[in-house]
This record gives sequence, C-alpha cells and structure tokens, in this order.
Amino acid sequence: MSFYDLIERRRSVRRYQETSVSEESVRRVAEAARLAPSACNNQPWHLFVVRDPETRRALFPGAGQAWIAAAPVVLVMCSRPSEAWVRRYDGKNHADIDVAIAMEHVVLAATEEGLGTCWICAFDPQLFRDVLKLPADLEPVAATPLGVPDEAPPARPRKDLEELVTWL
Ligand SMILES: Cc1cc2nc3c(=O)[nH]c(=O)nc-3n(C[C@H](O)[C@H](O)[C@H](O)COP(=O)(O)O)c2cc1C
Repeated sequence: MSFYDLIERRRSVRRYQETSVSEESVRRVAEAARLAPSACNNQPWHLFVVRDPETRRALFPGAGQAWIAAAPVVLVMCSRPSEAWVRRYDGKNHADIDVAIAMEHVVLAATEEGLGTCWICAFDPQLFRDVLKLPADLEPVAATPLGVPDEAPPARPRKDLEELVTWL
C-alpha cells in the first residue's frame, strides 16, 4: 500500500471484532513508534501494551467507553517530560509533540497491519496512573484500542486546503 493510500484508508474505528491480534503484529506496531523522530532524539515516551481484559476495563470503566475496552488490545502512550527537549527561548517542553508523532506512527503502522485504532485522549489521567501504577515521571497522553475492525466508517470531512494552508 502506498503511503497516500494508507493515510486515505485510516479511520477512527469504534467497533472491534473479538479476534485476537498477534504478538508479531503488535511488535511491528511498537517498532514503528520506536522509529519515530523526536526533538534531539530524546525519545521521551513509554508505550504500554494492555492485553489483560480486566486492566482494559479498569482503564475505561464507563459504559460510554466500553467499546474501547472491548478491543483485544489497548495501547497507552505516556510521555516522560523530564527527558524531553526544552526550547530555551520560551521553555516549551516538547514531550507532547514527540509522543504525538510516535502515536501516529503506531496508528499508521496498525493500518498497514489491517488493524483499527482510534486516538483516545478523553480519559481520566489519575485513573490511568493508578491502574498502570505509573511512576511519577510518566504522564499518560493518549491511548488507542487495537484490533480487527468490525465497522468501515466513512471518511470524516476535512476543511478545504485553502483554509488550512497559506502560500507565501
Ligand atoms: C488528539 C486526539 C484525541 C482524540 N480523542 C478521542 C477520544 O477521546 N474519543 C474518541 O472517540 N475519538 C477521539 N479522537 C478521534 C477523532 O474524533 C477523529 O480522529 C476525528 O473525528 C476524525 O475522524 P477520523 O479519525 O476517522 O478521520 C481523537 C483524535 C485525536 C487526534
């Protein structure tokens, strides 16, 4: 699949089959995160692969998010801001940017594997800290279910390019 086909094909998937995901597939997806660029190559992130169903349900206890826990795997991407590059001009910590790039590598690699994902940021960070027993220097930033899609959502609309891009 060409890169352009891949980014066209990706969707946020919110229904998953019960079919399990092979460890090889998950490893390739994690490897894609490992190859992501990061500011000063600091790689200030850590990925949790949550396969245990009880842990998945503990992360997403609400009825409205049961579909996330129902996927065979949930990935939780955490940042380690203490390791991230900080821009000296304004003190901006780049951990969130590095994590977002790694997470999107995850999402695109999963698409290549024929697996569905959905970026999830609407979660309780303190609950994640407790359930995953995160050390104080790790911050949960994003999660995604990972599994075989049980739906084929249509493409969501995007703004026109003219609205998004300025040519000078
Ligand atoms: C940073 C970020 C956070 C998101 N958080 C959630 C979320 O908590 N729950 C959810 O169902 N979708 C979430 N989404 C998915 C978006 O709703 C989705 O990407 C958007 O509607 C476009 O649809 P598409 O991904 O199918 O193109 C998130 C996406 C991003 C990039």
